[in-house]
Amino acid sequence: MKKRILSGMRPTGRLHLGHYFGALQNWVRLQDEYDCYFEIADVQALTDNYDNPEKVQKNVREVMMDYLASGIDPKKSTIFIQSMIPEIAELTVFYSNLVTVARLYRNPTVKTEAKQKKVLFGNDGESITYGFLGYPVSQAADITAFCGEVIPVGDDQLPLIEQCREIVRKFNHIYGEILKEPEALLSENTRIKGLDGNKMSKSLNNAIYLSDTEEEILKKIMGAVTDPNKIKKDDPANPDVCMVYSYQKLVNPNIETVCAECKAGKRGCVACKKELVKCMIDYLKPIQEKRKYYEEHPEIVDDIMREGTAQARSEAQKMMSEVRKHMLINYFD
Ligand code: TRP
Repeated sequence: MKKRILSGMRPTGRLHLGHYFGALQNWVRLQDEYDCYFEIADVQALTDNYDNPEKVQKNVREVMMDYLASGIDPKKSTIFIQSMIPEIAELTVFYSNLVTVARLYRNPTVKTEAKQKKVLFGNDGESITYGFLGYPVSQAADITAFCGEVIPVGDDQLPLIEQCREIVRKFNHIYGEILKEPEALLSENTRIKGLDGNKMSKSLNNAIYLSDTEEEILKKIMGAVTDPNKIKKDDPANPDVCMVYSYQKLVNPNIETVCAECKAGKRGCVACKKELVKCMIDYLKPIQEKRKYYEEHPEIVDDIMREGTAQARSEAQKMMSEVRKHMLINYFD
């Protein structure tokens, strides 16, 4: 029997190349070898966007189209919406008893994100919400509701997988061995940086989106950061500090030439950027054509979301009935 994969993303914006090369491309490759479940984690998105439900709602559809355009195939994999599976919320409540508040405060991922979002934390913790602090518990419910065994994620997510494993062990110890301890599967690609050399992120406006137009791609790449020590067009440069080169590596089949010419001072940055624009547009073309098809057929997207969610729900219901039995809360069975 194929092993079960579970992963997901928060619908807080359209997906960019960081999501694609860091996760999606990997998920697409895993679809034949594993039984894959891919979540649109809207409940998790609401933990820090609870005051902007329109944003989350809109992006559930955008992320769904980005999944499909990237090659997640609904015939092979199950794609579902987190908030439509009430069993996840139910499990989260029961798991909450198995985690201390102190442990959540020590979770490195929660810590980093609280800092990024400028949420007060720890001793000044008045402004962090219960929901945000507790989202690792809800993520443990996401994983175990579908008996997820292999969790393909970036390294920033490792503390969340570890937190899930702890909850699983504690649950199994108290209520009986029914949950599986998941394992992280790190994606091959290292995190790709934004065009300005910072972490790729929506708020820094340094990302290329899967759905960007040719004009947007051109504008963004022409403004990318190159080797600051290269002043004149024929100065030799160091490709390893150049953002343009780091993208060329992902999409340009003639990467050896790019590298050699750059080091030898035989390649101006403007020409190099133009070449990257062309390669990037070519690379994204099949993804964008697929996305356009789904944009023009919203009813097909609806059907895929509805069917995937129904399939996922029936799986979660089976799990929940076992959990209730073992926790002695199956009163009417
Ligand atoms: N926390 C993940 C992110 O921010 C999204 C996510 C939600 C997830 N549930 C998950 C990842 C379960 C793996 C498994 O990208």
